[in-house]
Amino acid sequence: MVELTAWTRPIEARIAVPGDKSLTHRGILFSAIAEGEMVLEHWLDAADTRASLALVQALGVEVREASPERLALVRPPRLREATAPVNCANSGTTMRLGAGIAAGVDGLTILTGDTSLSRRPMARIIDPLRTMGVTVLSRQSGLAPLAIAGGQHRGGTFTLSVASAQVKSSLLLAGLTAEEPVRVIEPALSRDHTERLIEAMGGRIERQGLSVTLTPGRLDAMAFRVPGDPSSGAFWAALAAISENRQIVVESMLFNPTRTGFYRLLAQMGAVVQWETVSDMPEPWGHVTVRGKVHHAVTVEGEDIPQMIDEVPLVALLATQCAGQTIVRGAEELRVKESDRIRVTGEILRAMGAQVEELPDGWIVEGPTRLHGAEVDAQGDHRMAMLAAVAATIADGVVRLRGEDAVSISYPEFFGQYGAMRDNST
Ligand code: S3P
Repeated sequence: MVELTAWTRPIEARIAVPGDKSLTHRGILFSAIAEGEMVLEHWLDAADTRASLALVQALGVEVREASPERLALVRPPRLREATAPVNCANSGTTMRLGAGIAAGVDGLTILTGDTSLSRRPMARIIDPLRTMGVTVLSRQSGLAPLAIAGGQHRGGTFTLSVASAQVKSSLLLAGLTAEEPVRVIEPALSRDHTERLIEAMGGRIERQGLSVTLTPGRLDAMAFRVPGDPSSGAFWAALAAISENRQIVVESMLFNPTRTGFYRLLAQMGAVVQWETVSDMPEPWGHVTVRGKVHHAVTVEGEDIPQMIDEVPLVALLATQCAGQTIVRGAEELRVKESDRIRVTGEILRAMGAQVEELPDGWIVEGPTRLHGAEVDAQGDHRMAMLAAVAATIADGVVRLRGEDAVSISYPEFFGQYGAMRDNST
């Protein structure tokens, strides 16, 4: 448990966030299917991405270097069958994308996870993989552990009922080793790192609106620097925008538009958000400055949700500082993340005095309210721990946060940087 109190002094800070989680997972996982040495600089070294590393190592990938700055991976000429179940821990990305890779590995791959991952829906990948002719066993109702007997399989066209980059990516990865092309049609655009990376690695992929078609084939390994994670940067952006006299520059952050919906919304809510693009390699990235307190209540729903899916709980926090009613709808996917984030966000914010009504697919938040101290629990969820820590910076009284160590999933340095920023404030 940590005890957190309000930050009263003005903030003017620059912060470098760790490498993007989605890009690090993909860089690691793609090393298992690409020929040559895959090199990631500024990779995210956290519990989640370590799960992907364990998976590819179990399939025979050799780790040539794993320093804080550089990760170098090489696959064997033929992937081997894992000799023991692979523990995907808390990581949905490892399990879902890993299942797509396992579809092309001769032999059996067993994927297990922690209690949270073992509750998350896997039928969304099991059903289409079975349609491709892959044998997949699971617990009843499509829950992990999964056992995948890989080898030869077909392609096909798959229309997804949820906008999920993990599902899309799983099917595209299975498509690389299929006998025919795989086409995936999403209901709304989810993050497109898999498509971009496959293209950059020499794969054949065609994109048209919400449809992606992949022609099976080999990939060439590549080297790239992972830009900072916009989902991690979002906690600092929110910290800047919930109070007056705070300006934070998040440095070298990924600007891929399928990931920056939250920052666009911040501007709509009245914060000043300035973008400085530095490069397009491997994807657009640069420095983003956030200042000025949010004040407009908003309605967020539909196609905007997937572009800020992991940041949506922060919208509820921001809304507590805006005058009027903020409505978030169409975010039911939050119920099946590392925790039920609709429920946990509501519990944390209400304990701190906010007026938050839970809907099946979002919240109605009535603002503005002064937040106060409370005892809150991250319930094992890294993003819930960071949300509570950000909220604590404007609360009257002490916030006692349980389960803060969950930040090791995606952002082990979070509390170190948080303390340093507070102590260095002017
Ligand atoms: C991710 C996709 C998102 C996101 C998760 C990472 C990815 O999940 O919530 O943190 O790297 O593809 P869904 O695709 O299931 O929405």
